[in-house]
Amino acid sequence: MATNHHFKRPYQPLSSSSTSYFYIFVSIIGLTVLLLVFSHYITSYSTSPIRLELIKPIKQYVPVNNDNNGAESAACDYSEGKWFYDPTARPPRYDETCKEIYKGWNCIAGNRSGAAEIVKWRWQPNHCALTPFDPLRFLESHRDISIGFVGDSLNRNMFVSLFCSLRRVAGEIKKWRPAGADRGFTFLKYNFTIAYHRTNLLARYGRWSANAKGGVLESLGYKEGYRVDVDVPEGTWAEAPSFHNILIYNTGHWWWAPSKFDPVKSPMLFHEKGQPLVPPLSPETGLDVVLRRMISYVEEKARPGTVLFFRTQSPRHFEGGDWDQGGSCAHLQPLSLEEVEQFFSVENNGTNVEVRLVNEHLYEAIKGSAFRLLDVTRMSEFRADAHPSAAGGKKHVDCMHWCLPGITDTWNDLFIAHLSSIKVRY
Ligand SMILES: *[C@@H]1O[C@H](CO)[C@@H](O)[C@H](O)[C@H]1NC(C)=O
Ligand SMILES: *[C@@H]1O[C@H](CO)[C@@H](O)[C@H](O)[C@H]1NC(C)=O
Ligand SMILES: *[C@@H]1O[C@H](CO)[C@@H](O)[C@H](O)[C@H]1NC(C)=O
Repeated sequence: MATNHHFKRPYQPLSSSSTSYFYIFVSIIGLTVLLLVFSHYITSYSTSPIRLELIKPIKQYVPVNNDNNGAESAACDYSEGKWFYDPTARPPRYDETCKEIYKGWNCIAGNRSGAAEIVKWRWQPNHCALTPFDPLRFLESHRDISIGFVGDSLNRNMFVSLFCSLRRVAGEIKKWRPAGADRGFTFLKYNFTIAYHRTNLLARYGRWSANAKGGVLESLGYKEGYRVDVDVPEGTWAEAPSFHNILIYNTGHWWWAPSKFDPVKSPMLFHEKGQPLVPPLSPETGLDVVLRRMISYVEEKARPGTVLFFRTQSPRHFEGGDWDQGGSCAHLQPLSLEEVEQFFSVENNGTNVEVRLVNEHLYEAIKGSAFRLLDVTRMSEFRADAHPSAAGGKKHVDCMHWCLPGITDTWNDLFIAHLSSIKVRY
């Protein structure tokens, strides 16, 4: 596989117009620094910590936000807010003809009732505005940039949303598989790349069966299961951290999926350095170990200037049973606050409780790492109405993925708002 050691450019999405502002900005800073140094010189040597703090960060960091409300958006918590119904909402940023939409998520083509209403709800953060996505401006300011989505099908859902949003304005596109990705596209005019790397657990895993010659796990009575190598990234994304400029990770659903990783019939059997970990770890503990190992791996592999996000868990909305027990989600409107608590409070231990449990593990693992959290959980908890449900007539009702167009469009708004408030190191 081609590695890209020759490519060392950090994330610097400065458009030409913001570049001129940048020079004006730098001149002003330069002047200020000179004045400060000068006044410092002629007054005294009392080293004022405030003054030092003033000078140091400005020399090293430059905010790239070219929005007028830049300072405000940098401080904003986009994850807390409310959904407002806006009957006059602009038409969706893409429609059901975008070919990248997986059939089961295409709620308009699949005749999900109320599918066209989903995007008429607008997320309003409590203390600031979420700027509407401008695909052209986004592409202009992300020339020569590559974004990788790494994770399960919910990250693919978000990837498709971004792709379809950009597709309309982008001109010629090359379809390929950058750095082992499942799928990827380069928007040729902008040399802007976006890719999806499929991985369920982040760590590599595969079927395990007892060896006739015996072994540690065999002696503990294990016959079948899944071997999970906590220290080995799955091959689908192992090259991604050194390839992309911006990465968005997720994992979660598969750790609470007893229909695959049945605790008795096919448990996860964690290995490290090729050896089984004994005593065997619970999936929860395994998740903590995998998150730690994979986060270190990414931090080590990523080039300086790479922007790393971890997306929080996406909520499911099954009612009356899990996905394989006839559960459904026939809502036509977002849930009320009370309903959200009923669905998700950890005390209730409902069908969909894993969302907040997974997040507790994520928050812990991200602390002190190079990753930023992209918190989409709260806003999504309200949207029981935004899943494909029975659209397209599938065998099981889908209350886990999201209709497209739909709320992963808003996740991308959040992602882009975060990006534009990031201060880039020079
Ligand atoms: C959706 O409805 C249209 C018109 O009623 C019909 O032609 C089409 O087959 C339906 N699609 C699905 C997937 O049910
Ligand atoms: C296009 O962008 C990639 C990074 O995404 C970079 O490695 C490559 O050099 C760029 N190509 C050109 C022709 O600028
Ligand atoms: C939560 O519910 C599941 C089954 O739905 C059960 O196995 C588990 O023991 C429950 N946990 C608690 C803490 O009550």
